[in-house]
Amino acid sequence: MQTTDSLTIIRPDDWHVHFRDGDMLDAVVPYTARQFGRAIVMPNLTPPVTTIEAATSYRERIMAAVPEGVSFNPLMTAYLTDSAKSDDLTIGYADGIFAAAKLYPANATTNSAMGVSDLSNVFGVLESMQDSGMPLLIHGEVTDTEVDIFDREAVFIDTILEPLIRKFPELRIVLEHVTTSQAVDFVSERHETAPGKIGATITAHHLMINRTDIFRGGIRPHLYCLPIAKREKHRLALRKAAISGAGPFFLGTDTAPHGVSAKQSACGCAGVFSAPVAIQAYTQVFDEENALDRLEDFASRNGPKFYGLPKNNKTLTLTRSETIMPEKISVQGGDDILPFLTEEGVIWNMDL
Ligand code: DOR
Ligand code: ZN
Repeated sequence: MQTTDSLTIIRPDDWHVHFRDGDMLDAVVPYTARQFGRAIVMPNLTPPVTTIEAATSYRERIMAAVPEGVSFNPLMTAYLTDSAKSDDLTIGYADGIFAAAKLYPANATTNSAMGVSDLSNVFGVLESMQDSGMPLLIHGEVTDTEVDIFDREAVFIDTILEPLIRKFPELRIVLEHVTTSQAVDFVSERHETAPGKIGATITAHHLMINRTDIFRGGIRPHLYCLPIAKREKHRLALRKAAISGAGPFFLGTDTAPHGVSAKQSACGCAGVFSAPVAIQAYTQVFDEENALDRLEDFASRNGPKFYGLPKNNKTLTLTRSETIMPEKISVQGGDDILPFLTEEGVIWNMDL
């Protein structure tokens, strides 16, 4: 059903979240669980989630933080290191413990020091992932500090991703949190020639902010994330891709909570915490683009199709009315977290 002021869609999923652990996990999980049926949970903890045992117990801790009466299915991922073993991953995938493996180029972002330092170190693993159909989720940025931070995604596509796909043409890949027109073009073209082999997540914040917003009236550390927001023309390309409803593009918030003291410091952490307003923010974008009829493809259909999973059988209703924004989220015994759009607000609200 769709009217101007109310929209009911198949319950969406979030194909890219960071839950952290401990008190932070307890504070943030409910926000994702009440909106989304499933979420792909990133493994960049300290230490990272590299084994079946670690993923199983992490999943239990997440489930313990899901509010009663809420149905939510966290899908776990394995963190690839230089010493990752094919068997651990493919057994975990075959047993339904891992939904995918995540490739962080070493030192590309938060908790990625244990990531892959040279792709050739994991060629064997990628070969078995290709054979088993296990998706590879990629943080697509080069780590060479000589490369301008705003170019790191485009350079990654040319120098790492293209050769990777040439070597492993059947490997199923998700290019995570795309931020550039180059990524949109690359994914669209690859999807044309090899449907089902590539997907891309797009965050709500990259649809809403450009690089200038990070410096609007001063430096805004809560808008700093990686990959960093790019020029306006890139934001417009991302919007066009998302609202097209095209198969390879789906919802992934990259919600990444950090305490205020870690964000507002001399060297602030990368990450935007968008979970409390995620679906509302995407809805606002689709509304602004007169594309509410394609929100369901992006949020609820394209992701499950790529991952070979059924669509959720529940629905979610959004109403056009001011969302009451939490000013901050308190973490037991720790720092507050400031959510995305606390100042600006959103004009769509989720019926609970
Ligand atoms: O901004 C980001 N934050 N980008 C990432 O890739 C990681 C994430 C985090 O874990 O904080
Ligand atoms: Zn992420």
